[in-house]
Amino acid sequence: MKELLGIKQLSANEIYEILDFAEDMKKLILKREKCSFLRGRRVTTLFYENSTRTRTSFELAAENVGAYVNSLDVSTSSVQKGESLIDTGKTLDALSSDIVVIRHSKSGAPLFLSKNISAAVVNAGDGANEHPTQALLDFFTMRQHFGRIEGLKVAIIGDVKHSRVARSNLWGLKTLGAEVVFCGPKTLLPLDMGSLCTVTTDPVAAVYDADVVMGLRIQLERQKQGMFPSLKEYNAMWGISEKLLSYAKPDAIVLHPGPVNRGVEINSDVLNGEKSFVNTQVTNGLAVRMAVLSLIGKELG
Ligand code: CP
Repeated sequence: MKELLGIKQLSANEIYEILDFAEDMKKLILKREKCSFLRGRRVTTLFYENSTRTRTSFELAAENVGAYVNSLDVSTSSVQKGESLIDTGKTLDALSSDIVVIRHSKSGAPLFLSKNISAAVVNAGDGANEHPTQALLDFFTMRQHFGRIEGLKVAIIGDVKHSRVARSNLWGLKTLGAEVVFCGPKTLLPLDMGSLCTVTTDPVAAVYDADVVMGLRIQLERQKQGMFPSLKEYNAMWGISEKLLSYAKPDAIVLHPGPVNRGVEINSDVLNGEKSFVNTQVTNGLAVRMAVLSLIGKELG
C-alpha cells in the first residue's frame, strides 16, 4: 500500500489485509506495547478541519509504530497568510515528511496533494467524499463482533447526503458482500444511490432485521438551512432509540463515528447501553491507523 486515498479503489483482499494487520496492532495496544515498522520515518498531520478522534489516533498510531510525529496547526500556520495546499505540501516534503495525513473540507484534496508531493498521502476525511480509516475501523468492529462482514445488514441513519463516512462504508461494505440501507429525512438522503443500496425515509424498514445500526451526526448548521423542521422532530422520527432497535436482530450492535449529538441522532440510553460499540470503535481506530501507517511504511522500505 503506497497511500490511502479512499475505500472505493480497494479490493476485498486489500481491505482484509489491513484488517488482519490491525488485529495484531490491537493486541499490542491491549498489552500497551509498541512496534517499529515506521522507525526513523516522519508522519505529519495536516488538518484543515476540526477533529478529536481521527487526529489524536493518527498521532498516537504513528508514535506507536515508531515514527517521528509532527502536527501542523493550520490555524496558526502560513495557510492563514494564503499559502496554497501544494506549497504547504512541498514545504512538508522539504522537511522530510514521509507520510502526510490530511483532512480537508474539499472533496479530492488528498488526491490533489498526492499528485503534487513526494510524501505518501493518507486521507483523514475529505469533504463529503471519503473517510477511509473511519470505514476500516467500522469494518474491524463489525468483524470482531460477528466474525464476518459478508451477509451483514448495515442500516446507516442520519445525514447521509453530506457524509463521507456513509460513502466510504458503502463502497467497502458492497465490496465485502454486506447489505447497506441508507435512511433519513428525504432532504438528507442521496437520492441518486438507489442502484447501489436501499435508500428509505422509513427507519423501521431500515432497521428491520439489521445486524448493525449506525447513526450519523446531524450537522446542526443544516437545521438553519431548513433540511428538517426541528431537532426534536428529527429525534422523534429518526433518532436511534431502544424502541427502534427492537426491530433489529437481537444481537445487533450500534455504531457512530462521533462526535455524537446525544438525544438527536442517538438517545443517551442507547449510547450508554450494552449494544453501543462507540468507544470500542475509537480504540479500534487506533489499531487500524497503526496498520495503515505500517503497511505504507513497508512500501517506503
Ligand atoms: N469520526 C471522526 O472523524 O471524528 P473526529 O472528527 O473527531 O476526528
